[in-house]
Amino acid sequence: MGLEDRDSLRVLHAALNPGADSEELLRRMYTRWFALDAPVRDLFGPELASQRAAFGRAIHWVFGEFVAQRAQEPVAFLAQLGRDHRKYGVTEQHYDSLRRAWYSTMRSHLIDSWTPAVEDAATQAINLITAIMAGAADADDGPAWWDGTVLEHHRVSRDIGVVRLRMDRPMTYHPGQYVSVQIPQWPRRWRFLSPAMPPDPDGFIEFHVRAVSGGMVSNAMVAETRAGDRWRLSSPHGAMDVDRDGGDVLMVAGSTGLAPLRALIMDLCRFGENPRVHLFFGARYPCELYDLRTLWEIAGSSPWLSVSPVSEYSFDPPWAAAYPDVQPPRGLHVRQTGRLPDVVTKYGSWGDRQILICGGPAMVRATHDALIAKGTPPERIQHDPF
Ligand SMILES: Cc1cc2nc3c(=O)[nH]c(=O)nc-3n(C[C@H](O)[C@H](O)[C@H](O)COP(=O)(O)OP(=O)(O)OC[C@H]3O[C@@H](n4cnc5c(N)ncnc54)[C@H](O)[C@@H]3O)c2cc1C
Ligand code: HEM
Repeated sequence: MGLEDRDSLRVLHAALNPGADSEELLRRMYTRWFALDAPVRDLFGPELASQRAAFGRAIHWVFGEFVAQRAQEPVAFLAQLGRDHRKYGVTEQHYDSLRRAWYSTMRSHLIDSWTPAVEDAATQAINLITAIMAGAADADDGPAWWDGTVLEHHRVSRDIGVVRLRMDRPMTYHPGQYVSVQIPQWPRRWRFLSPAMPPDPDGFIEFHVRAVSGGMVSNAMVAETRAGDRWRLSSPHGAMDVDRDGGDVLMVAGSTGLAPLRALIMDLCRFGENPRVHLFFGARYPCELYDLRTLWEIAGSSPWLSVSPVSEYSFDPPWAAAYPDVQPPRGLHVRQTGRLPDVVTKYGSWGDRQILICGGPAMVRATHDALIAKGTPPERIQHDPF
């Protein structure tokens, strides 16, 4: 029966439920894995809790799909995960030791319900998951990562850095997508960043980074990046896009959430005619609206683009005393004061627009909810996963 035996798969799925004692199961699995294959430990950062949780969520979802006898989405997901895992330096030998550790941990954890049928389902599921990941990784002959050199780093506000790099070879991605980034100050700590410009045939790329409070990697990117640093990029993801035949567009950017929307706007500049695009660009303080000059320049020569700056406070903090005061050129929207969700929905639901929201999770959720409350159809709204 194996993968067709839904009752046995249910037993395995339940054992991996994050609400149950799956944390203990996963802890034991990793311990066993590192005992069987000591070098594999070096692939991971020092702190394993969030990694265990991410692995647990992924396999719980996959087993749920197996229970429902759905194959298409889990196979696509695992293949993508396998291709992405190339950047961690994962090899066939690691998959082999994982299979053995995973199987024996499941067996000892489920000792009371470990029937031959459950054993069969577990063996087949573990083999299938690892085979899809390893097979997809093997079949991908594109690069697993792209290395590049930091050319410039501008600290455009206390908490925001603009980093420009030149990649050794041009990276392929769609404007609006995000990529995985590893910096020399934090080896093996990959973080997502969204390129702030469309892909460039000469390999130039720009990122906008906001240091989040207590954040390991973002603070190093903003405070410690130097020209000459070597960054490693991988795995473009995301499907945010503007359909040029899909009607007018509303974009809402919170802080460095501007980056992917800026890339999409720059890409639209290639065309003579575009749908109208209204961009709300928000930050806490006026001085944190770091890229207004570029946006105004584009708007000045692109009649389809309007830019509305929004800041939560009407004044700048003391640390910004020496920052230049940016005022819009004549005829462009002046800055408004308020929270993005309130300012945006003041004008109605924008329900007839393609809507793209980008920024920190709290701002994206609040803007999304405020629009829905105004009557915007949810299917009109796009945002990246949190
Ligand atoms: C699809 C996607 C695209 C992204 N693009 C960009 C980008 O272009 N520019 C950019 O600056 N960041 C971007 N991020 C966020 C970035 O990937 C990191 O999550 C962020 O920089 C924090 O990493 P850290 O190592 O400093 O924080 P961690 O050490 O991982 O976390 C420290 C604390 O910060 C909190 N935290 C994590 N992320 C955020 C956040 N975004 N806002 C507020 N609090 C947070 C955590 O909950 C935790 O409490 C993107 C994230 C996603 C999912
Ligand atoms: C040979 C086997 C594998 C190795 C060596 C491996 C290694 C790694 C490493 C090094 C990370 C990054 C951890 C960090 O950021 O500290 C990671 C992340 C992750 N792994 Fe694996 N892994 C393996 C198999 C799997 C399998 C089978 C799954 C699930 C089906 C999985 C799911 C994940 C997920 C969801 C993440 C987090 C985000 C991501 O990179 O997409 N891994 N893995």
